[in-house]
Amino acid sequence: MLKETLINATEAGAQVMQHYFNNKNLQINNKEGVNNLVTEADHASEKAILEIIKGAFPDHFIVSEEVGEIVMDSEYKWIIDPIDGTVNYAHGIPLCCISIGLEQAGKMIMGAVYNPFLKEFYFAERGHGATLNGQPIQVSGQADLMKSCLVTGFPYTYINEPNGPLEVFSRFIRQGIPVRRLGSAAIDLCWVAAGRFDGFYEHKLQAWDSAAGFLMVEEAGGKVTDFKGDHYSPYQPHIVATNGKIHDDILLWINDKA
Ligand code: IPD
Ligand code: CA
Ligand code: CA
Ligand code: CA
Repeated sequence: MLKETLINATEAGAQVMQHYFNNKNLQINNKEGVNNLVTEADHASEKAILEIIKGAFPDHFIVSEEVGEIVMDSEYKWIIDPIDGTVNYAHGIPLCCISIGLEQAGKMIMGAVYNPFLKEFYFAERGHGATLNGQPIQVSGQADLMKSCLVTGFPYTYINEPNGPLEVFSRFIRQGIPVRRLGSAAIDLCWVAAGRFDGFYEHKLQAWDSAAGFLMVEEAGGKVTDFKGDHYSPYQPHIVATNGKIHDDILLWINDKA
């Protein structure tokens, strides 16, 4: 029942979101700052997702990007990003997803990410592996950072801090290491899980950006930590997620110790 609800909610969000994709009058609003956007599709997706989860489990705790927390005294917590990749979406770039993670007693137990444009449904359950459209996936085998393809993202503020996004990014690209920026942290993580990228790092993520995706990487055989190399929790800001083999090398560069 938990799994079915997770899958149904993720698909319902994606259906509504797609419906708005060709809407020429799509309502777009700013949150804080000029480019931190939210569209009517984010709200519609969120509404469809919440209806399904609340319908099935009215007493579960929910946290969702646009509505915030629906606090309940429950060991279950649903962590929802109704559209991850809103800036892409608002510009008509067909790369974004719905991401939902489910925690039990503080531990992520399941995650689902659906990219409706590529029709890719990622699912992970703790201890049971990760799948893409039902087929098991695993991280890449690349052990050489210099031959790796990385992905990152940038927060809306904080970009110029010491050891912040710009500095760290420049360390990698100066080495000639390809670093992509797709605009959806959940997709970045799923593509590490699927072996398309060898590693991902980002400063200042929110819990809903990484909740489902970090479990996807772990269940696909990868490694996820904070910038110190310690246990990752989606409630702290910085993330490194890799195939495991290049993890220590990435940490050295991030911390300017290479
Ligand atoms: C954003 C995306 C992006 C990341 C930003 C997030 P949103 O989420 O995940 O890749 O770089 O930090 O805020 O706003 O599109 O849900
Ligand atoms: Ca997000
Ligand atoms: Ca979002
Ligand atoms: Ca957002």
